[in-house]
Amino acid sequence: MTNSPLPQDIQDKLFKSATAAKDTAYVPYSKFRVGAALLTEDGTIFKGCNVENASYGGAICAERTAYVKAVSEGHTKFKGLTVTTDQDDHVSPCGICRQFISEFGPASLPVYLVNAKGETLALTLGDLLPYSFALEQGQKYLM
Ligand code: THU
Repeated sequence: MTNSPLPQDIQDKLFKSATAAKDTAYVPYSKFRVGAALLTEDGTIFKGCNVENASYGGAICAERTAYVKAVSEGHTKFKGLTVTTDQDDHVSPCGICRQFISEFGPASLPVYLVNAKGETLALTLGDLLPYSFALEQGQKYLM
């Protein structure tokens, strides 16, 4: 999938925001902190962390927290997403988050996965969820 990368200063801002979001992760059960930062078309950055619950299935991932915050504030067009954790590996969004993100697209959305060492794996939404489900073909990624 073609990726037109965001300028480095924007990538740095997203990483900083994702790291700040990770610091607010509510993870008493898994202790697995995740931070996300979502860049909207108008340049606003929404932060999201994972929020767990004693009823484990009630947990919400960092990516969906960021998306729900943005969409509920009227934003539906996005330019980039950064996800970071405390892991040495690059942790990528779970299946539910991939479907959730794909609701808004675009397929070329840059997705930056940053590991604990600060190393970035640059992907796109299309890389993460090819052949995504949509009710109608034309509805895909709200192109
Ligand atoms: N988690 C995320 O926040 N994002 C993902 O894409 C995968 C998993 C969270 C959910 C839970 O709080 C913890 O990581 C362990 O699964």
